[in-house]
Amino acid sequence: MSELIVSTNQLSKKYKDVFSVKNLNMEVHHGEIYGFLGPNGAGKTTTIRMLLGLIRPSKGKVSIFNKDLQKNRFTILKEVGSLVESPSYYGKLTAAENIEIVRSLLDADKKSVDDVLKIVRLHQVKDRLVKDYSLGMKQRLGIAMALLGNPQLLVLDEPTNGLDPAGIQEMRELIKQLSREREMTVLISSHLLSEIDQMATEVGIINKGELIFQDKMDVLREKSSDSILIRVNEPLKAQTILKKEGIISHMEKAKQMLTLSTHMKDEEIAYINDLLVRHHISVYRIEEKKKSLEEIFLQFTRSEES
Ligand SMILES: Nc1ncnc2c1ncn2[C@@H]1O[C@H](COP(=O)(O)OP(=O)(O)O)[C@@H](O)[C@H]1O
Ligand SMILES: [Mg+2]
Repeated sequence: MSELIVSTNQLSKKYKDVFSVKNLNMEVHHGEIYGFLGPNGAGKTTTIRMLLGLIRPSKGKVSIFNKDLQKNRFTILKEVGSLVESPSYYGKLTAAENIEIVRSLLDADKKSVDDVLKIVRLHQVKDRLVKDYSLGMKQRLGIAMALLGNPQLLVLDEPTNGLDPAGIQEMRELIKQLSREREMTVLISSHLLSEIDQMATEVGIINKGELIFQDKMDVLREKSSDSILIRVNEPLKAQTILKKEGIISHMEKAKQMLTLSTHMKDEEIAYINDLLVRHHISVYRIEEKKKSLEEIFLQFTRSEES
């Protein structure tokens, strides 16, 4: 496993008597795109604010680049670019002027202004006023600001919020490109699995302040593998027939559906179909269904309880 870029130890944040983030042990490795997933209110922004030193943890520690954040705030944060909630800029100034303000604050290289505008593909429109930018362009401007100073770690809190599908796609490509060409480590939060599914290489799922899953994206893909739905005329009879062959199915009565939740090869499905037909069951349809994030949450929270 490659070097750890972010790690937290029992990181917690309590507001009044309630934990917004509880005992979080997060691990983000070098060069990975870490998808930080969770429904609204799960604690993503609170976690990210602690990672960026914007709020103080109630308990626990944050290490970035193997250094304690509390003790090395300044040196660490120089190497971290971030976009938390909507970026702030001056609408009455151009994009280039906005970037220049941030550049001079950071004392970054003059040349970097054009560089970052090119990366986010705003170079052609850099002299337009930001108030005339679309939401997607504004988000990209926020990322351009985060990229000033060529950070090793990029932290983006729901950067696709409010973007249309094309904007989301563009953001995804941009992040992959940064990871590929600059070996940047990226932490990106989202409440939609579909949004980070094709981009993330590592994933952490937070639910009610607790990290309920963390691993390589491939492992999550395996766990969330498709279930098979079979619609038949006599689900109860079909279920009994399958059971005799050692195939366990769940019945959804209302829809005359049987669900098989294990992953199946084509041959196995053909076998099941043949078996049912031989027993004079009418098979109306067999389809594959991907689990939604909500279903994956249920699966993880259930297995935690049991
Ligand atoms: N400053 C605050 N004071 C009190 N409660 C807060 C504060 N910030 C966040 N919370 C609560 O913490 C929980 C997690 O919020 P947040 O981190 O914003 O979730 P997410 O970003 O995943 O949507 C929510 O229940 C929210 O109401
Ligand atoms: Mg949030």
